[in-house]
Amino acid sequence: MKRDYEGDRLSCPKGQLNLSPPAAPVSRRLILASGLALAACGREPALSQPIPEPPLKSLAPFPIGTCVRAPDLEDPAYAGLAARHFSQLTAEWEMKMEYVVQPDGSFRFDRADAIAAFARRNGQRLFGHTLLWYANEPEGFARLDESRQSFEGALRNYVTAMVSRYRGLASGWDVINEPVMENGEGLRDSLWSRKLGQTGQFKVAFEAARAADPAAVLFVNDYHLESRPAKLRTYMTLIEQLLKDGVPLGGIGCQTHCWSELAPGAITATLKALAGFGLPIHLSEMDVSTVQGGMLANRAEAERRQARLYGEAIEAFAALPERQQFAFTVWGLRDRDSWLKRENAQDRPLLFDDAGRPKPTFAAIVDALRAR
Ligand code: G3I
Repeated sequence: MKRDYEGDRLSCPKGQLNLSPPAAPVSRRLILASGLALAACGREPALSQPIPEPPLKSLAPFPIGTCVRAPDLEDPAYAGLAARHFSQLTAEWEMKMEYVVQPDGSFRFDRADAIAAFARRNGQRLFGHTLLWYANEPEGFARLDESRQSFEGALRNYVTAMVSRYRGLASGWDVINEPVMENGEGLRDSLWSRKLGQTGQFKVAFEAARAADPAAVLFVNDYHLESRPAKLRTYMTLIEQLLKDGVPLGGIGCQTHCWSELAPGAITATLKALAGFGLPIHLSEMDVSTVQGGMLANRAEAERRQARLYGEAIEAFAALPERQQFAFTVWGLRDRDSWLKRENAQDRPLLFDDAGRPKPTFAAIVDALRAR
């Protein structure tokens, strides 16, 4: 995914701190606020130890996910955070062809197996990401001879090997990731579409995945749907065509990589539009950049807007019909783990800070889940 963006400016209503005795269980933010209020009156806060934040997965009636990398799961602090708050895990990159397919065409599953084992040990679902992606054209495939049969056969073998390996643990798969062009003007050209045709790539990949795991929910997945109307239109036209063609599409992914300037209501409107197909929705990769779009100069304002967008997204997702609430996934655990840090080290896109402490974005999700 290459990042470019347009953003709308928005006003940010002033939050009200409720310092009256809580009717609902105490939230971390309230603890801190009460402590500050007491300190301001010259009295020590009553609580010596802050109450640990509630596990997100205990507050949500639907799976709450994050993406992980196998080596990070060997860090106890990271592993503890992932296990405590999340009920679904997505491999950030180690279940993609770029890791699995070797130059000689062989497959390596070591890290995907490690993530699957962690999920199994912690009673979490695994989400398979991703089988076909324009950004992954591994040498092992591209070298196959030109005849369609062997290329198609190799692709069927790959999909079958991946999906059947995690059958019973993987609740679903992104079968084709990011099929729509960046500008929304059509479908992307890729090794897969060149070899099998635009329609053919979907038919081969989805049918092979269906055969390998009849119970897995099979998704198409894309990004910037909430900020690029042309992209959303093309994505919805594609979905309509896939359903008409009888492709076993079982779910719709909306990645939701956005930035703090995104107009309020955009995420809500996009989820509503996609939910119109009646299929399960996976809000699959949410993060909210605090530096894209020039917000760096006003970090406090960017972070206020960011928290509101996380609150809006969880509210919009929770408002979907229950049968369409597949999972709400954030793209990473701590700010330091985010892919966005590679572009700008000052970005703070996630729910936990570099030390793994919950941020106002976490509190916004907790508040929205409690307000349901
Ligand atoms: O960890 C290895 C390191 O040991 C090695 O030296 C280095 C150089 O080869 O690679 C490192 O792995 C990198 C990995 O990120 C580390 O997290 C991979 O090369 C790199 O390709 C991988 O990038 C991932 C990218 O997808 C491509 O797979 C990002 O982490 C990941 O956040 C990003 O996620 C995508 C979704 O799949 C689809 N939607 C957009 C999203 C963001 O681009």
